[in-house]
Amino acid sequence: MAFTAVLALLAGARLAVSQNSSFPTSTAAANATQTSSGTGSLTTTFELSVDDFWDIYVGPVSTFSINTTVEPTAIPSSSLIPPPSLYYPPFPGGQQVPLQTKNESWQFPKDFWYGVAGAAYQIEGAVKAEGRGPSIWDVLTHRVTNYIVTNDTGDVADNNYYQYKEDIARIAALGIKTYSFSISWSRILPFGSGTVNEAALAHYDDLIDTCHQYGVTPMATLYHWDLPLYLQNTYGGWLSDSIVADFTEYARIVFNRYHSKVHYWFTINEPIVFCGFYPLPQNYFKATTIPDVEQPYWCGHHALLAHSSAYRLGKSINSSLSISFKTNGGYKIPRTDSSADADAVQRAWAFNEAWFADPVFLTGDYPSLLKDFVSGFLPDFTSEQIAQINGSGDIFAHDAYTSDFVMAPDSGIAACVANSSNELYPGCYNTTKLYAGDYWAIGPAGDPGTPWLNKATDWVPVFLKYIQDTWKPRGGIAVSEFGISEPYEELRTSLPSILIDPLRSQYYVDYMQAILIALSEGVNVVGTLAWSIYDNLEWTSGYSVKFGIQYVNLTTQERYFKASAFEYVNIIEKYLEK
Ligand SMILES: *[C@@H]1O[C@H](CO)[C@@H](O)[C@H](O)[C@H]1NC(C)=O
Ligand SMILES: *[C@@H]1O[C@H](CO)[C@@H](O)[C@H](O)[C@H]1NC(C)=O
Ligand SMILES: *[C@@H]1O[C@H](CO)[C@@H](O)[C@H](O)[C@H]1NC(C)=O
Ligand SMILES: *[C@@H]1O[C@H](CO)[C@@H](O)[C@H](O)[C@H]1NC(C)=O
Ligand SMILES: *[C@@H]1O[C@H](CO)[C@@H](O)[C@H](O)[C@H]1NC(C)=O
Ligand SMILES: *[C@@H]1O[C@H](CO)[C@@H](O)[C@H](O)[C@H]1NC(C)=O
Ligand SMILES: *[C@@H]1O[C@H](CO)[C@@H](O)[C@H](O)[C@H]1NC(C)=O
Ligand SMILES: *[C@@H]1O[C@H](CO)[C@@H](O)[C@H](O)[C@H]1NC(C)=O
Ligand SMILES: *[C@@H]1O[C@H](CO)[C@@H](O)[C@H](O)[C@H]1NC(C)=O
Ligand SMILES: *[C@@H]1O[C@H](CO)[C@@H](O)[C@H](O)[C@H]1NC(C)=O
Repeated sequence: MAFTAVLALLAGARLAVSQNSSFPTSTAAANATQTSSGTGSLTTTFELSVDDFWDIYVGPVSTFSINTTVEPTAIPSSSLIPPPSLYYPPFPGGQQVPLQTKNESWQFPKDFWYGVAGAAYQIEGAVKAEGRGPSIWDVLTHRVTNYIVTNDTGDVADNNYYQYKEDIARIAALGIKTYSFSISWSRILPFGSGTVNEAALAHYDDLIDTCHQYGVTPMATLYHWDLPLYLQNTYGGWLSDSIVADFTEYARIVFNRYHSKVHYWFTINEPIVFCGFYPLPQNYFKATTIPDVEQPYWCGHHALLAHSSAYRLGKSINSSLSISFKTNGGYKIPRTDSSADADAVQRAWAFNEAWFADPVFLTGDYPSLLKDFVSGFLPDFTSEQIAQINGSGDIFAHDAYTSDFVMAPDSGIAACVANSSNELYPGCYNTTKLYAGDYWAIGPAGDPGTPWLNKATDWVPVFLKYIQDTWKPRGGIAVSEFGISEPYEELRTSLPSILIDPLRSQYYVDYMQAILIALSEGVNVVGTLAWSIYDNLEWTSGYSVKFGIQYVNLTTQERYFKASAFEYVNIIEKYLEK
């Protein structure tokens, strides 16, 4: 099937084509930019096929030898034998060791869901297969020099597009009953809007049906950062309010197709992070006149409107669906008991979780500390928009990996707020993670490739309690991603040394124990999703940072359970209400 779109190459939009293209008009477009300043935009339009679009903006991509959907390979029973126990016998004798002697006051409720998660661009590969259009990440990985520290791409990734049956069979064999995946927008709509690609819809049909066949509950995310390139190049993606209608239309297609077989939905994944990717690198996408410092907040504004619009639409299609967005962050602990550090903590909440959670769970609008900043340039939400946003989340789905010690900037908060050159502006809070060496870390560090991530599981109960007390989500709280990058795992070359992942194993045990404590204190935690189903493309870190509870040999695409996979399942099974 042929997909085409009309592309306007605007003067002022110095596109990726100027980098390296055989497309004859591209240089002219770049030249037009240079000669048109002050004279208004010069434009021309072309009709493009999906293949042309790939060739011009991305170039050749790699493929893997398994390039049709395959049946699962048998899972050897030997691969399901748990690793040697993490735990030492109690000393002195009689002391409780929770995985050996059950604490009877702890329990995961019967309907607690525990699963694993992945995301389309990070695991699927097969980037040009069956009509998929490029996303911004195909350009970021292929064209932007040194954007990905390892120069890796998602071209093949874990080849999940063809091996998903095996992937679902493997988690089911472990006893994991929930799988959270994301749908690739540019597979369904190669240009982000317009003609629908039936082959892609059929693919996710089969993926979802395979989940049900194995007794695994599918959970779907609509947007996990892989914005259709065409939308970035024609109107600036999330910087434009045009995204709201296009996202809603994409949501309509997907909800209509799958609502009877997928109950749990996440609209957008971690808007704090994907909006923080703006400004995108210059010269590869449509240029914008929005100042750099404002761009994340314009993106966030449209993300709130797009999310809430999709939420209302999904509920109108099937009112029984559970629909939420996934946010991210950690507990914020004042570094000292000074009032300045206490104020910094409030700013850190406002510029992170509360940026999206206050509008959705409390008021329909921004927290006041954030509004003080954004009201200088963003339009106010109208009363209709406030009504649409307010209450547009069922579960509080939090990607809660770690926590932070927070403190005021050296200059003080007031001086920072008044000085847009301060490196902490506009948030104007500092954390001990931003600069190495001055303070104790909050816990053991993950891989050097993830300087934001330390194991901080001690803070989980108080963090979950804070979420419940602050945002009072009616559907409870889900830890929708958690995990840790095992330090230096990428340097290990022998399989046995890779498969024992002690920090990650302890992380999952301690984290699940912390959730048990939170539950015993009355916090309504409804489920957890381990990140990740297996090692995958960790965005700008490429494949060098490992988050998987399974190892994937990228040469052969063989999968292997790591010790942490067993530890995660073991503690759940021990404490799950029978
Ligand atoms: C530019 O094109 C050449 C020839 O097709 C190719 O070898 C090279 O990798 C391309 N460079 C980039 C940055 O895409
Ligand atoms: C673009 O501009 C450069 C230098 O100004 C010139 O050498 C080149 O021929 C121009 N290319 C086109 C296609 O107009
Ligand atoms: C699929 O892979 C086989 C090798 O396994 C190769 O011969 C064939 O050309 C590939 N097909 C496509 C469409 O890439
Ligand atoms: C990535 O590619 C760039 C440009 O070709 C090169 O300068 C850099 O050394 C490469 N990085 C790695 C880790 O290979
Ligand atoms: C609505 O969705 C649920 C799954 O959440 C499904 O069981 C039900 O059949 C759907 N309703 C209709 C009318 O399809
Ligand atoms: C938001 O929704 C809550 C709960 O339904 C309601 O109490 C509150 O008044 C609403 N706020 C606004 C500003 O509409
Ligand atoms: C943030 O805190 C670090 C100490 O960890 C300090 O070195 C740095 O100067 C602070 N930054 C600002 C802008 O206050
Ligand atoms: C604003 O912050 C910058 C960067 O820290 C600093 O160089 C400058 O002196 C500050 N300006 C004022 C007025 O404090
Ligand atoms: C991955 O597979 C390749 C090819 O079979 C093999 O040479 C390599 O040792 C494997 N890596 C590990 C860690 O097992
Ligand atoms: C069992 O859990 C409860 C509630 O979290 C806790 O108060 C108690 O200390 C635990 N018992 C032991 C022996 O650790």
